[in-house]
Amino acid sequence: MSKRLYIETLGCAMNEKDSENIIAELTTKEHYETTDNIKNADLIIINTCSVREKPVSKLFSQLGVINKQKKSTAQIGVCGCTASHLGADIIKAAPYVDFVLGARNVSKITKAIYQKGFVDTDISYDETTYMFDDIGANSYKKKINISIGCDKSCTYCIVPNTRGTEISIPKELILDEISKAVDSKVVEVLLLGQNVNNYGKTFSNKLIKSSFVELLRDISKIPKLKRIRFASPHPLHMDDEFIKEFATNDKICKNIHIPLQSGSTKVLKDMRRGYSKEWFVDRCASIKKAVPHSRISTDIIVGFPTETQEDFAETIDVINRVKFDQIFNFKYSPRPNTVAKDMPSIVPDGVASSRLEQVIALHKAHLDEKMPQNVGKELEVLFEQQKEKNIYVGFSDNGYQIQVKSDKNILGNISKVRITNFHRTYLEANIK
Ligand code: SAH
Ligand code: SF4
Ligand code: F3S
Repeated sequence: MSKRLYIETLGCAMNEKDSENIIAELTTKEHYETTDNIKNADLIIINTCSVREKPVSKLFSQLGVINKQKKSTAQIGVCGCTASHLGADIIKAAPYVDFVLGARNVSKITKAIYQKGFVDTDISYDETTYMFDDIGANSYKKKINISIGCDKSCTYCIVPNTRGTEISIPKELILDEISKAVDSKVVEVLLLGQNVNNYGKTFSNKLIKSSFVELLRDISKIPKLKRIRFASPHPLHMDDEFIKEFATNDKICKNIHIPLQSGSTKVLKDMRRGYSKEWFVDRCASIKKAVPHSRISTDIIVGFPTETQEDFAETIDVINRVKFDQIFNFKYSPRPNTVAKDMPSIVPDGVASSRLEQVIALHKAHLDEKMPQNVGKELEVLFEQQKEKNIYVGFSDNGYQIQVKSDKNILGNISKVRITNFHRTYLEANIK
């Protein structure tokens, strides 16, 4: 009888992809099947995120609960970014944890499960040429890693410490993975990396050279592939060639995540982001000019230690000028092994919370202004989920969530729709 794996994934799309790879390794090589019931599981894995403090402090109470719920024979593994930065300390604090496997070491999962007390958090380990099995997740979309690690050193961020330096995955392996995926029902790929548009700077084989634009062009030549998305590009590497490719390559979906972090050039310098407010606003304007129906989402941190009221006003100014379609906003959280952790903060917690509220309110006002303007417009939608009997949900190429009524099964179809109604976070439409 096969053994049962319960896996919980926190954090970003890269962690989700790592979990897919863990599942693939354990199902194909070790005969596990996945379960949603933690009490029945033989192996429980928490794939952790470390980017802010809150989920990390919750980890140990969560592990305690799991230890009480689980079968007495079940194993517990902690993987991901918190595994990378806490390592063996996790087992010291929670001795019932069987193994700790850092992000960037996923291929060692089949070893980890056989050694009680196994700890491996090597952030220089190179998995870029390891071929994970494809278990053909039952989906029209597939995540594809194009690079691992990060070559930046933003002063607030723990990721370079949990995922190591950046190495790109050879183009042939990426094209091969996508070609195989489209032979099943995949029609859309999401290319993943901490800074996707830095692709090609470093390969483990020093003789290979490539660029993100070249990669996009080659991927778009795969005939059965219909749509390409990627996350996240770094504003610094958004040159005109990249924007031209984004605008003119028909397979690239016109929805782009450009992480701002702060609108103040001074704070951006303190964060070591490498670009100015003007550069960021100019890049967004160029994208909007080249593709008027494109949508831009962003990440914003408020309450960075050196952020004055004037700096925050610059962030508000950028939000007013770009009018983002989606904002992931965070209150600054000091992280171990980062430069910003040792910067004395001039921002009391209450002020940071109030700035967060202001960002949220302004963004809501922008959505309330923008969403009604969609009524009557035409969009192209990939339908991927059946919500109720005759209600289907999909995403437009520019990233709107769209709901339609249909008596026919339209799962997997890419169809033209006309928008009939709006809500703050999704649109209703009729199929044309
Ligand atoms: N590589 C991506 C970011 C990955 S982390 C990029 O550069 O855009 C995802 C987001 O978490 C970041 O964009 C940032 O907004 C947020 N973040 C990272 N460290 C943080 C911290 N210490 N406190 C609060 N938010 C943080
Ligand atoms: Fe973190 Fe900056 Fe790297 Fe993004 S680019 S992962 S924010 S260090
Ligand atoms: Fe992702 Fe969290 Fe690690 S955002 S890279 S899982 S710290």
